[in-house]
Amino acid sequence: MSKVYVFDHPLIQHKLTYIRDEKTGTKEFRELVEEVAMLMAYEVTRDLPLEEVSVKTPVATATSKVIAGKKLGIVPILRAGLGMVDGILKLIPAAKVGHIGLYRDPETLKPVEYYCKLPSDVEERDLIVTDPMLATGGSAAAAISFLKERGARSIKLMCLIASPEGIETVQKEHEDVDIYVAAIDERLNDHGYIVPGLGDAGDRLFGTK
Ligand code: PRP
Ligand code: URA
Repeated sequence: MSKVYVFDHPLIQHKLTYIRDEKTGTKEFRELVEEVAMLMAYEVTRDLPLEEVSVKTPVATATSKVIAGKKLGIVPILRAGLGMVDGILKLIPAAKVGHIGLYRDPETLKPVEYYCKLPSDVEERDLIVTDPMLATGGSAAAAISFLKERGARSIKLMCLIASPEGIETVQKEHEDVDIYVAAIDERLNDHGYIVPGLGDAGDRLFGTK
């Protein structure tokens, strides 16, 4: 069974409150999502391996550490996942970015991939899949399956808010994928929205309705 990490850091919780607030406008919403993603990336990358190097300081030679050549990739689920990418890139500027887009077929209700462009060496990379909302879990579970079909072997899922149902779905389908969230909310409503959640993440990020 995969692990679920809920970040209780005060800065993350504080910013999440303003992200939830219906009075928060598009500009501030976008900035806050980026900031929270950056703070979450700090924790998500905690297990990156280090190697020792020598570095000459102005005083002497120090034995110090650098990240041991790990290849990382960020894969936002279009479109709302895009809002988390720049925050992560601030901490990991060399990461490659793939994109995956899904829509739900109105008849079968199954997720259909409409766009996918990934780094060519996807099987060698540790991927962080981003999406602010893990609601029914259908989109994230399908996106992860599509990534695995293309060879991805190491995947973490990073969301702002999850529902218990969404977590259960991803854990059932992908027991190798750990999930990182800022909050787990109460439930889903009849329209598949997270309650209390933050509303429609894509619309709030991009100012659409
Ligand atoms: C939202 C959200 C997730 C999905 C979550 O995207 O960003 O991708 O819904 O719902 P699920 O867990 O029930 O699948 P949406 O489909 O609204 O598209 P958008 O990002 O283009 O707004
Ligand atoms: N997608 C959203 O943007 N918000 C939700 O609460 C559920 C799905």
